[in-house]
Amino acid sequence: MNALPPLAASATLFEPLTLRSVTLRNRIVLAPMAQYSAEDGMANDWHFVHYASRAAGGLGAVVVEVTAVSPQGRICPGELGLWQDGQIAPLARLTALIAAQGAVPGIQIGHAGRKACTAQPWEGGAAVPLDRGGWIPLGPGTEPFGPAYHAPRALTHAELEALPGVFAAAARRAHRAGFRLLELHAAHGYLIHQFLSPLVNRRTDGHGGAFENRTRLALEVTRAVRAAWPAELPLWVRLSVTDWAAGGWDVEEAVRLAGLLRDEGVDLVDSSSGGVVAHQRVPAAPGFQVPFAGRIRREAGVRTGAVGLITEPAQADAILRAGQADVVLLGRVMLRDPYWPLHAAQVLGVEGPWPVQYLRGAPGTV
Ligand SMILES: Cc1cc2nc3c(=O)[nH]c(=O)nc-3n(C[C@H](O)[C@H](O)[C@H](O)COP(=O)(O)O)c2cc1C
Repeated sequence: MNALPPLAASATLFEPLTLRSVTLRNRIVLAPMAQYSAEDGMANDWHFVHYASRAAGGLGAVVVEVTAVSPQGRICPGELGLWQDGQIAPLARLTALIAAQGAVPGIQIGHAGRKACTAQPWEGGAAVPLDRGGWIPLGPGTEPFGPAYHAPRALTHAELEALPGVFAAAARRAHRAGFRLLELHAAHGYLIHQFLSPLVNRRTDGHGGAFENRTRLALEVTRAVRAAWPAELPLWVRLSVTDWAAGGWDVEEAVRLAGLLRDEGVDLVDSSSGGVVAHQRVPAAPGFQVPFAGRIRREAGVRTGAVGLITEPAQADAILRAGQADVVLLGRVMLRDPYWPLHAAQVLGVEGPWPVQYLRGAPGTV
């Protein structure tokens, strides 16, 4: 591995973090959360309101929801996309809004693989029929995720060879849209994770079997994206650190991959889990994935993000002070409370990043 400066032993929630040329004003990051509300992959008024209001709530960075690198790679027809240049302009408006509120605009790019082509969760989430705008998803093999999903078509060798270029093209468009942080989605049972997991990847070619083969797609995509994404901007990768199922991808393999990703120029591993098989058993509890971020940070020597049921300011601050992660990513709690960072600052007794327009409502002013 390349020699890198040692990671800081600890930080606090409202301490800035500099990654390459980008500084987050604090360590609180909006976790990518699909809104399932785009048309033809284009951001619209819902996205502007949703992301701008959360940026105004004082976040260090916003990671915009998973955005498809190709139309077949959409989880649902309403997913954002970056597979064509026409999708850049509305996202550029979004990055300007987020940056104007003092948060770093980031975006997650991904491909859903065999879990593509499902209805919005509030419509039940089952496969969209082919005669109602659906399509046949692509996967490592032909086994569906479950009975409510389409059976995928197995990716050919030529298609696999083309995929890193497809991700790289989306990364270039993300840069043109003004994003300053890019996250590659390699978690939650979507395409890259499907290749990592021996429970899904049963290929017998150079992309299946041994660790080196199962991680090939992840590493080739990372290499292509790192080359396409400006050297002065940070690249994150989201991993599922375990499949929570016997015989699956696990923390030992994830630590090993995290070290290789670090060597490819990945700046932070966002440490999540699960999603690749329906029979997983997830022991969800407050902060249950935090130990994964800690272990990857310690053993792979790469910065990490902790995510999953982090809801309390003192809990978030303690994760950073213990050196288990470099940032916390907050999901559902930010849907309930867009101003969580401002409230957390008040609870922790530090000055909050209040928008000037809202100063008359800040604590101590009435
Ligand atoms: C509505 C919703 C949409 C989500 N979409 C994504 C996504 O686009 N990409 C992703 O990596 N995770 C996605 N997630 C997972 C979150 O990023 C996060 O990892 C998860 O919700 C656990 O964090 P929390 O307990 O703070 O919510 C989504 C979660 C929710 C609730």
